[in-house]
Amino acid sequence: MKRIALSLLLVCGVAMAGEANATDANATAGAADAGKGKALYAKCAGCHGADGGQKALGKSEVIKGWDAAKVEEALKGYKAGTRNVHGMGGVMKGQVAAMSDEDIKALAAYIATLK
Ligand code: HEC
Repeated sequence: MKRIALSLLLVCGVAMAGEANATDANATAGAADAGKGKALYAKCAGCHGADGGQKALGKSEVIKGWDAAKVEEALKGYKAGTRNVHGMGGVMKGQVAAMSDEDIKALAAYIATLK
């Protein structure tokens, strides 16, 4: 009986260790995305501010505080040429035209972290 209890403990221990590893892997993937988003944001900072707190060219809304879905939707609109809120959608189209959906996602995730 003791033996069974002991091996059960062992099995649980191994299972929990496995889970912990999986969580670590997820955290690393998230961090990699944020790192990519941060790198992509470098070219946005000139107009929107390093922390997203600036009205770009005195025209755009302040994007600091936007959630990722809202940023993603806006960027996809500019890329498609369908978004033009302040008459300067063309400026933004040039910024995101060459970006993949994955780039836009990573960028949006990073912007959502700006405080
Ligand atoms: C040359 C200056 C400039 C740069 C660089 C720039 N933007 Fe913009 N951004 C603007 C302007 C101007 C607008 C307003 C466009 C419009 O009329 O809809 C805008 C709008 C936006 C909006 C929507 C805000 C709103 O008012 O609706 C988002 C989100 C955004 N930019 C993100 C970015 C990201 C991300 C980057 C980097 C890839 C970037 N911008 C680079 C000038 C810039």
